[in-house]
Amino acid sequence: MSDNRSSFTGKIGFVLAAAGSAVGLGNIWRFPYLAAQYGGGIFLLVYIILAVTFGFSLMVCEIAIGRKTKLSPIGAFKVLDKRFTFAGYLATIVPLIILPYYSVIGGWVMKYLVGFASGQGAKMAVDKGAFFGKYISSVGEPIVWFLTFIALTTVIVFFGVEKGIEKVSKFMMPILVVLILFISIYTIVTMDGAWEGVLYYITPDFSHFSIKTVLAAMGQLFYSMSLAMGIMITFGSYMKKDISIEASARQIEIFDTIVAFLAGLMIIPAVFAFSGGDPEALGQGPGLMFSTLPQIFDVMPGGQIIGAVFFLMVFFAALTSSISLMETIVSVACDKLKLSRNTALISVFVLCLILGVPSSLGYSAWSTVKIVGLQILDFFDFISNSVLMPITAFFTCICVGYFTKPKYVIDEVEHTSPFKSRRLFSVMIKYVAPICIVLILVSSVLSTFTSFKI
Ligand code: TRP
Repeated sequence: MSDNRSSFTGKIGFVLAAAGSAVGLGNIWRFPYLAAQYGGGIFLLVYIILAVTFGFSLMVCEIAIGRKTKLSPIGAFKVLDKRFTFAGYLATIVPLIILPYYSVIGGWVMKYLVGFASGQGAKMAVDKGAFFGKYISSVGEPIVWFLTFIALTTVIVFFGVEKGIEKVSKFMMPILVVLILFISIYTIVTMDGAWEGVLYYITPDFSHFSIKTVLAAMGQLFYSMSLAMGIMITFGSYMKKDISIEASARQIEIFDTIVAFLAGLMIIPAVFAFSGGDPEALGQGPGLMFSTLPQIFDVMPGGQIIGAVFFLMVFFAALTSSISLMETIVSVACDKLKLSRNTALISVFVLCLILGVPSSLGYSAWSTVKIVGLQILDFFDFISNSVLMPITAFFTCICVGYFTKPKYVIDEVEHTSPFKSRRLFSVMIKYVAPICIVLILVSSVLSTFTSFKI
């Protein structure tokens, strides 16, 4: 046990650090394309309901476990109940699956950053964003950018200069939020058809509802708030005893959701303005942000510069997340496999190459390769967000709900102040969350492999 864990200074320090890790490509890139794909308003509604009930409970639970045990996820689960140690291992595999494909997207962001900064943004807006499709279907360049991104992450972790990057990023985050807001307002006010997009985004249409909406929203919730992968346990282990877990969890959750909501408001109305809400444009998936944004910047006065600044900030948000993902994997590899830090770092780097290069090639040379009907990058995304994370969350609930007992978490939360949502917490952890996860998982597996549909 490490008694010398450093602590975050002050209340705001903890929330900022945790929110800094939570806000990333998940909010800006992933949330908008899922919302567009899964019916707009109905996805948003399901997401918000899940966030304030399930997401909140799981976040409180993970932070409390971390603060109480002062251990990393594997050690923490061992202390909670020996039989659940495997859940700690499960949690730590997730970042290893996420980091490689996260870096592929990080590479796309770098390409757009350099494109706009060198004044070539207009080239990226041609043919309704067809540039992006052409770009990722070329073999070499996306791989070079992916390598650059992952190498940069590795070098930063190697030299231990994360703190510097985090400082820059903290300063950029508020500007990013303001910029997203500005771009949304600009689009909505000046472009024909954008208002329909706003309506599509905020009005729930129940005919678009399916069990897949819930699965997608739940996976996104885990991903975006860095839950069910041990990250918040680790964060909690550094949290001071006099800071309210409940208030912090609420603040992180609200901040993360606001950023995601605004990113959707920036992208979905623009899709309507440029393509009239064409279902194909809405359903295009991971490329949505990259084909839509250059078109906005192209018509916006000063759009080239705003575009460059925007991609710079997204780049920093992505970089802080990739650093934190890599840190997590490296520290587990050092502890559990007894590797030296450098060996661990090099191994993680090589593993990222092995998993990341195919993710990138999945759009070009290997575009015909499908795993369970999914593209390679989508497959990794699916395995982590829709399979492993729900399973980890399920076992966390069972472990805390029935073995360690919710009181363990409640006592830790009440260390500072009365736990206002303690009833919600207990009911969520014991009954609602585990039952929902099982139902959702079973139906999604069935619908992936059979013709079963809900
Ligand atoms: N939550 C981050 C985002 O929204 C992504 C992420 C997933 C992450 N797992 C993480 C970030 C672990 C830091 C550490 O982009």
